[in-house]
Amino acid sequence: MSVTVRVPAKVNVQLAVGAARADGFHDLANVFLAVGLYDEVTVTPADGLRVTCAGPDAAQVPLDRTNLAARAAIALAERYGRTPDVHLHIAKDIPVAGGMAGGSADGAGALLACDALWGTGASRDELLEICAELGSDVPFSLVGGAALGTGRGERLAPLETGGTFHWVFAMAERGLSTPAVFREFDRLGEGRDIPAPVASRDLLDALAKGDADALAATVSNDLQPAALSLFPELADTLAAGRAAGARASLVSGSGPTTAFLARDAEAAQGIAGALRASGTCRDVRTASGPVPGATVVRGIRNGYRP
Ligand code: C5P
Repeated sequence: MSVTVRVPAKVNVQLAVGAARADGFHDLANVFLAVGLYDEVTVTPADGLRVTCAGPDAAQVPLDRTNLAARAAIALAERYGRTPDVHLHIAKDIPVAGGMAGGSADGAGALLACDALWGTGASRDELLEICAELGSDVPFSLVGGAALGTGRGERLAPLETGGTFHWVFAMAERGLSTPAVFREFDRLGEGRDIPAPVASRDLLDALAKGDADALAATVSNDLQPAALSLFPELADTLAAGRAAGARASLVSGSGPTTAFLARDAEAAQGIAGALRASGTCRDVRTASGPVPGATVVRGIRNGYRP
């Protein structure tokens, strides 16, 4: 008996970052879009807690209790007075340490899979609460679609989208640590007045209309200068995507994955080919969004459904 949950990656079409708070986190206006690159988490009853991972980046994934999938199983088990005796297997396709919420996806996936396996009867709000404890991006991995995240990104309001957006993602040669990128953001902003983060009205309108050109004109990422400062070669990838006709080019979240918005699926294939040929990145993928959040794809379906 096992349960498999599929969870999408995300791109931040707007990431407005405020000044560091007393708790070290930053207030955000974070517009998430779930895109069709997926990790799958399979949970199977076992004698104790065990994590395995397969996929091109598997060697970089921690298999101990620091893995967000393991932490999710432990958190849910604690809440329901049981032991997390499960084998969690992650089939990983989302880049590791890439700014696309791959770790968060595994946390949300393990939570939903364990919930279905154990039949806890947890409500959506309870699961979202556990997600928020696990990490700022984990609630969005559970719900998917498009949403505005405020607070440290964990307080979500769903957003309307009027169509599908086509993206190309360029994976970098190495990862970037999210805390390091936020620290660099703080360093670059020292002595400057950092305004409170607000979502762009024009960007939300573009999403609601499904208008790729309007979205391209409004995307922004306040972490991009910090990511570029730590990883200057990303400027070459961004330039290669722009030269290939991308409507918009930006760093995804804290990076280093770069994201390119295309006019349509065909244009995305053209940009992907040009980026592959440019030699400025490790791998290139196309994906579109919005797509649904964590979903049970095999096994028991007695748990929460987004
Ligand atoms: O919430 P999560 O564990 O994913 O955050 C990872 C790190 O990113 C935090 O420890 C913090 O350094 C930084 N962060 C932040 N402000 C946020 C979200 C994350 O400073 N809103």
